[in-house]
Amino acid sequence: MFTLKKTPGRDFVVLNLTDTHLTDEEWANGHKNRLILERTVDELVRKGSPELITVSGDISFADHPNAERAYEKFASLLESYRIPWAFVWGNHDNQAGAEVAGRHADIMLSHEHCLFEKGDPALGMGNYVIGVEEEGRLVYALYMMDSHDRFDFTDSDGSVRKGWGHLLPPQLDWLRGESERLGGVRSALIMHIPFYTYRDAFEAAWNHDFDPMKVSPAESLDPKYWNEGYRDSRGVKYEGVGSYPVDLGEFDAVNGIGSVEITLVGHEHINDYEISYRGMRLAYSLKTGAGCYWNQALNGGTLLRITDDGGKLENIFVNVDDIVG
Ligand SMILES: [Fe+2]
Repeated sequence: MFTLKKTPGRDFVVLNLTDTHLTDEEWANGHKNRLILERTVDELVRKGSPELITVSGDISFADHPNAERAYEKFASLLESYRIPWAFVWGNHDNQAGAEVAGRHADIMLSHEHCLFEKGDPALGMGNYVIGVEEEGRLVYALYMMDSHDRFDFTDSDGSVRKGWGHLLPPQLDWLRGESERLGGVRSALIMHIPFYTYRDAFEAAWNHDFDPMKVSPAESLDPKYWNEGYRDSRGVKYEGVGSYPVDLGEFDAVNGIGSVEITLVGHEHINDYEISYRGMRLAYSLKTGAGCYWNQALNGGTLLRITDDGGKLENIFVNVDDIVG
């Protein structure tokens, strides 16, 4: 477990980036996607003044040519800010298997400010805890967890296909154990792939008199878009929720632990909503940069401010119109 220090009376600021997805080719000098990513991260760091940067996965594509160089370039960019940074793997980081993901993790770990633990291989790669301490007392925990790549799913007609990954029962046991060990301190869970429950939360919260495809992030702040009981929601949903196709109860298990107040994920590049559902804040982090597919109006990152009163999320949008042209 890593421990970082919070200054009394001040928020501890975490900047979360996600789904940067840059290939080695796109890291070439002068490549538009590189310029967009560098500008975006620079502006996020300048505006957010984070004390920790986290990344919720899909940093690159593990099976692309020269992938190790892409991971190294990304690590060097984060290292240049000289503050601690941490990450979880996304499905694309895991898509070449555990051995390759392990080599890429070693590249990241060769950097001084990188916080990452491979953890117990039975749980995947990169299940670990970052604690935030104030005057020697633990006040918050970040549970960093691996949501894997894809798992088999058997359809009602008996055919087997791949569904997006999810947390496994031993990971839920691990999380419960860590939470108990840390006295149930308030916490956030950072992983790549959302719970199935992200679908239920949006269905319950959204006012279906409106088409979510036609609402902008700024407009979504208007409570008329949200049902009663969910008026503190915000954000947009421009694509489906890429969770495992059925609910295996991970959200219930995590929520039952009682200490996790926020879950922050990536995976979907053009969803950025944040909804309090059954006592937990379920949120998408804003996608960082143009890699893979993106919506230019949803470029940026998400701050997690650890206040004396728990964690608060805040999106920072970064305008890169001048680079895109
Ligand atoms: Fe993903």
